[in-house]
Amino acid sequence: MSLLLIAKNRDMKPWKEALLEVDPNLDVEIWPRVENKERVTFAVSWNHPEKVLSNYPNLKVISSLGAGVDHVFNDSTLLDSVQITRVVIPSLKEQMAEYVLNAIQNYRFNTSKYVDQKREGFWSSHDAIPKSDSIVGVMGLGEMGKAVVDTLHDNRYSVVGWSRSEKQLHGIKTYSGKQLVDFLAQTNILVCLLPLTKETEGILDLELFKKLKKPAYLINVARGSHLIEEDLIYALDIRVLDGASLDVFEEEPLPSNHLFWNRPKIMITPHIASITDPKEAAKVIIENYKRSLSGMELLFEVKREIGY
Ligand code: NDP
Ligand code: OXD
Repeated sequence: MSLLLIAKNRDMKPWKEALLEVDPNLDVEIWPRVENKERVTFAVSWNHPEKVLSNYPNLKVISSLGAGVDHVFNDSTLLDSVQITRVVIPSLKEQMAEYVLNAIQNYRFNTSKYVDQKREGFWSSHDAIPKSDSIVGVMGLGEMGKAVVDTLHDNRYSVVGWSRSEKQLHGIKTYSGKQLVDFLAQTNILVCLLPLTKETEGILDLELFKKLKKPAYLINVARGSHLIEEDLIYALDIRVLDGASLDVFEEEPLPSNHLFWNRPKIMITPHIASITDPKEAAKVIIENYKRSLSGMELLFEVKREIGY
């Protein structure tokens, strides 16, 4: 039996090394130079090309290399019998929590305005946004969302949360499903940490932005397709939103002629909010590989019927 590493435009050698460091006896193949497709039962994927995995007759499990699995579902040729899982590790959650806290503080304390002023040698002060006008609403209270909520709570932010099913989380008011409007009415700073599914695609639109408490700000760290990009531009122009911090985009890398680059109110980072560490991830991947070989329940298995 063997494990396949498959990703488009990504060097997977460090991943192979990390896996072999944990278990030197593993048989690991890297796509596209695969010696024996029949032996592959477990694939670790990031954006694998569609249809390629149909050529692996004994494939039983696909693990996303990160937390999101939308890229796996993009392959419409996957057999229903193939289980899908993902990597969730403490450092992913910690990085995400720190990224979001940092984005909030940058917004509140006008960091990007001061960076621009320094470039121009211009001295001028701006009022910081008080914490009372910085109630954070986290959409998605899963692995990442909960870590963000805890960190914000530790930093004395008022936080509200929204998820599909009802939840009780320490120190925050939670909303679910149809209570979206009530959640938005409590939220100044909206953080999107939803998985990308049929239900959540395009959820960040003008109508939603209008329902936020003012002043309003958007942080999207989930997926670019959650956001209707032209609605963000319009919402900024008509001052429904004060600004946005975006880590993910419909098209990545963000094209050099994209409108977002020239908008001072949009902060851009290149999908780095939380990066999977191969060494830490190797332990979870190998645990799941071994579980799959012995027919045990997988860690972090995705429910295919709901898409996350
Ligand atoms: P989880 O699957 O652990 O959690 C998803 C959360 O979203 C759950 O609380 C779920 O509700 C909620 N949710 C799903 N669908 C809906 C819906 N229709 N309405 C309301 N709530 C919904 O995901 P993670 O926290 O691990 O990750 C979230 C996303 O973050 C990933 O899918 C990925 O896209 C993104 N990500 C981005 C990274 C980056 O670097 N930018 C790094 C890592 C992740 P319930 O609890 O009721 O099931
Ligand atoms: C992930 C990501 O899903 O990096 O892990 O976006």
